[in-house]
Amino acid sequence: MTLWSGRFTSSMDATLWELSESFSFDQVLYAHDIEGSKAHVDGLVRAGLLEAGEGELLVSTLDQVRGEFERGEFIRAASDEDIHMAIERRATELAGAVGAKLHTSRSRNDQVATTLRLFTRDAVTEIARSALRLVDALVYVGAANADAYLPGYTHLQRAQPVLLSHHLNAHAWSLLRDVDRLLDARTRMNVSPLGAGALAGTSLPIDPAATAAALGFGSAFANSMDAVSDRDFVAETLFDIALLGVHLSRMGEELVLWTSAEFNFARLGDDFTTGSSMLPQKKNSDVAELARGKAGRLVGNLTGLLVMLKGLPLAYNRDLQEDKEPLFDSVRHINLVLAAMTGAYRSLTFNAVVAQAAANDPYLVAIDIAEKLVEEGLPFRQAHEMVGKLVGQSVSSGVDFLQVVGQDPQFARFSVLFEPGAALRRRQSPGASGPLASQAQANRLATTREALEARL
Ligand code: ARG
Repeated sequence: MTLWSGRFTSSMDATLWELSESFSFDQVLYAHDIEGSKAHVDGLVRAGLLEAGEGELLVSTLDQVRGEFERGEFIRAASDEDIHMAIERRATELAGAVGAKLHTSRSRNDQVATTLRLFTRDAVTEIARSALRLVDALVYVGAANADAYLPGYTHLQRAQPVLLSHHLNAHAWSLLRDVDRLLDARTRMNVSPLGAGALAGTSLPIDPAATAAALGFGSAFANSMDAVSDRDFVAETLFDIALLGVHLSRMGEELVLWTSAEFNFARLGDDFTTGSSMLPQKKNSDVAELARGKAGRLVGNLTGLLVMLKGLPLAYNRDLQEDKEPLFDSVRHINLVLAAMTGAYRSLTFNAVVAQAAANDPYLVAIDIAEKLVEEGLPFRQAHEMVGKLVGQSVSSGVDFLQVVGQDPQFARFSVLFEPGAALRRRQSPGASGPLASQAQANRLATTREALEARL
């Protein structure tokens, strides 16, 4: 018997049942659903719709049901279509007649919207916390190799030398923005839909603001139809996760490059690499490749949700049940990738000898010569042209750029710029890649990180 059997003469076809059941995936919402139901029960007591004793019995019964889930003892009944019906069915079995009052002034429409907001609010906090751990790992690797530097690239062509910490901090800053975005989304989603009913509120004397406060929401809904049909919070969360996933994918791509024999800038620990079933010499950076690969599904989950939402008339439509799997999937996979990448970075050995040799490529000093000429009063375009000609001479003659400069009486005084690390040390402008600017950046990063941590 279904909860709505009153107006039906035959039961649901098996194919519709299979299509519409969601317990198989929404049971992970049990704790948040029970949290919402307990606040709802307290609200019914305050509204005089339940006796105090009835409320107490329902609350303790709901806790009992939660215990069954926690211990893996909950047994699904054939009629349990989704987590909400399963919990109500079981609570009614345990509490007896009063169970029939649990759903007073409530619909699954405002219930599921409430439950999912509570779930997403916690999920976002957890992801933000994990992202900060990855920031810490990046900072740790930078600090453990404080003087190490490498070529910075544009177009994947060597461009200018950068400190390793500067390079890794570039990723850290993008992660800090991700955390900021997640916490912003959390603030926006922190509005309670409970009390909106099916779509139009209720004739019963409930107080949505009070249940909202009890659940830690910043406010209650202003419009009951918006409350039950809004899934912006899912879309925003999926976007924030997708973008975070894109950042992790770029970091993964970089680790794949760095750990290749061609770059040989870094090695990952054995505990964060895999071997080959056939080739004995292989040590593969699968962790980085999976970080890169997961971005596809994270972006897919976002686009799937947006497409599902785009044609829906107000207010609740069953299509909305399709919000859950992409959300659960993205939350699960981003947490996996964040944890694995954190471990991978902490296991990283940076090959400073190789990376610095690449960064000491004489051509990377070309801009420093041009900037020296600017210091001496030459317009930059002229300086660029002159140094460009020198580079051209070196390229066409095959003579090392350092030698070309040293042998030209007009430029020989710039030979000192080719000393290893000299070009790096010259990068002192605010936010630049050299050691003198790096402390200010490190301080700013730490302050930003602390401010975000305080918001968790
Ligand atoms: N399992 C449903 C969902 O996730 C709960 C809401 C069902 N509401 C309804 N009117 N059938 O959306």
